[in-house]
Amino acid sequence: MKYTFLLATFSLIFMVSCSDNKSETAISSPDSNIKVDFFLSDSGQPGYTVSHKGNTVIDSSYMSFDFKDQDPLQDNFSIISSETSTINEEWEMPWGEQRMVTNHHNTLFVSLKENTESGRSLNVIFKVFDDGLGFRYELGAQEGVSEVLITDENTEFNLTGDHKVWWQPGDWDIYEHLYNESQFSEIDALSKKDHPNLIASMIPENAVNTPVSMKTDDGLYLSFHEADLTNYAGMTLKVDTGNYGMVSELAGSERLGGKAKVSLPFATPWRTVQISEDAGGLIESNLLVNLNEPNAIGDVSYFTPMKYVGIWWEMHIGKSTWDMEGSQDMSTYIDGAKGSSRHGATTENAKKYIDFAAANGIKGLLVEGWNTGWDQWINTEDREGVFDFMTPYPDYDFDEVMAYAKEKGVEVIMHHETSAAPRTYEKQMEVAYNFMKDNDMNSVKTGYVGKIIPQGEYHHGQWMVNHYEKVLKDAAAKKIAINAHEPIKATGKRRTYPNAIAREGLRGQEFNAWATDGGNPPDHLATIAFTRMLSGPIDFTPGVFNIKFDEYKESNQVNTTLAHQLALYVVIYSPIQMACDLPEHYAPNGEIHPAFQFIVDVGVDWEQSKVLEGEIGDFVTIAREEKETGNWFVGGITDENARNSTIDFSFLPEGKEFTAVLYKDGPDAHWDTNPEAYEIETMQVNSTSTVDINLAPGGGFAISLIAE
Ligand code: NOJ
Ligand code: CA
Repeated sequence: MKYTFLLATFSLIFMVSCSDNKSETAISSPDSNIKVDFFLSDSGQPGYTVSHKGNTVIDSSYMSFDFKDQDPLQDNFSIISSETSTINEEWEMPWGEQRMVTNHHNTLFVSLKENTESGRSLNVIFKVFDDGLGFRYELGAQEGVSEVLITDENTEFNLTGDHKVWWQPGDWDIYEHLYNESQFSEIDALSKKDHPNLIASMIPENAVNTPVSMKTDDGLYLSFHEADLTNYAGMTLKVDTGNYGMVSELAGSERLGGKAKVSLPFATPWRTVQISEDAGGLIESNLLVNLNEPNAIGDVSYFTPMKYVGIWWEMHIGKSTWDMEGSQDMSTYIDGAKGSSRHGATTENAKKYIDFAAANGIKGLLVEGWNTGWDQWINTEDREGVFDFMTPYPDYDFDEVMAYAKEKGVEVIMHHETSAAPRTYEKQMEVAYNFMKDNDMNSVKTGYVGKIIPQGEYHHGQWMVNHYEKVLKDAAAKKIAINAHEPIKATGKRRTYPNAIAREGLRGQEFNAWATDGGNPPDHLATIAFTRMLSGPIDFTPGVFNIKFDEYKESNQVNTTLAHQLALYVVIYSPIQMACDLPEHYAPNGEIHPAFQFIVDVGVDWEQSKVLEGEIGDFVTIAREEKETGNWFVGGITDENARNSTIDFSFLPEGKEFTAVLYKDGPDAHWDTNPEAYEIETMQVNSTSTVDINLAPGGGFAISLIAE
């Protein structure tokens, strides 16, 4: 990776040096639009406000920590010093939504000390960018105390009105709830408990997971999240619906008896607020990656962004099973009845997928259910040790499949379902990763379905945060890339560990196959783009062409049109994108579906990305320029409402001609009544062209723009 420092101005200005607890200090964004005021209350408690163009966005909000066996860190502080500095640099991503990232911000570093005998110290650091801000705490060293157990971090975000909010419940175990749209005063996370389709879920309070996005009455867009979540617990935000207040509530651990045990001195993750005058600005923001440390693992060229197929969707729709015994049968998911054995991961089936990939320009193949242990997967309480990441089922000739894939130029992606038994996984990782490398495998999809073992730990607690990071580090040492399912949320750490290629951490496509609540509604991805996607790449697994799959499941379907599925390859960013449907659905009569050409052509690694239009939960259109080729791709999706979109190609370079292929909804297309109706149109365009496109209810469009 190459870092180009264009301009790095550093100005340290000594601003305050006194013990006057009324001291105030402020910092603005480089464009001066966002301003943060830091202050101490009369009781000496640190607090801050945020304004945008002079309007308050976050009203007086205070900060404190509670500990086991120590007084809270709250009142009685004095400002010892405060300094400001500026950074303006560019850095290069190995793969991403864009190649070069601008990191331009002003920093305010405030050092505080308690006016007590112990005189504990606390630094609060604000970094203010044009697109938002982040702040973190540094808990100072204490004489004779090496470690503290944080029982609560109380960071407030007091809002200025009853904003419209896109939220999901603050679950310590899973991010696979649907986003809800409501006024802030109507957030009711506790009503989302006991979801029938979630095996692990823990919603202790009326809190929301992050990212949580909002729109104010004045039309300003806000999104709250965190950056650089390291050796700490994931943050939810507890809501005070009456006062429009939010306060951090960390995921806990019953084993720990608190939230996070940390050695002093300790720096917390950044608490982030994205601020934008248009919804698309939230997506274009690089705040989170900029608040993370640079690449710590060196060369990552062992991974190449790619599209992949997989023995996967067929298990979710119930055509086949993960295990040979037939006990993990999603076709009987609803009543939990035991099914029959229809093992998906057979040598023959893998070869069928390899042939399909090789013939259609798809580089990767994922095979789930290849290793023994799946018969004891979800149904077993004690899942410690059930999985073996080395031993194939007898009907899957691992060596033969690998040799065949190699011959055909297809890269096989490993699959490690840990069944949420991280201790077992940690014991086996070294051997499992060596086994992968011995077989030239460079990436693995991991999974953590179920309640974490040991009991008392949650997916988003400190113990698991550290596990997910250990996986990234150990995998990096072996030159392996990780696509984690049931992960900890992304917090921009892909900058530090670029081998964190993608993750799930949302209601993925799979819910359409078996969820008993009707699957993902048509507005799902138009919401995800402005919420979950702000945190980082998503392994959503788009590309269902056989939308109703009645042959397998009459009670389930995908709730979008086929063109909407195509658009997702551009709208949803990931350096790995699955073409998730079955080969026979892409080539129904042995002949490849004409619309599959878009999946063949579309890029997976981008020079730059532009959000052309969008409203949270309604619609979004994104254009991305492919790295190196100069080709552009555009994807647009809508919710359950039809819409007309005028695409203005002025984002194209001036004076260049492009062959545009438009994949759009057919005239009578509809996500429910006619989802597979599509049209393909070819035309010449340049930067002065515009085109009108009709999107069906639940519909979308995709455009490939091939440079001439
Ligand atoms: C859940 C993952 O999200 C899904 O993609 C995978 O197929 C199953 N777990 C099995 O590991
Ligand atoms: Ca999942």
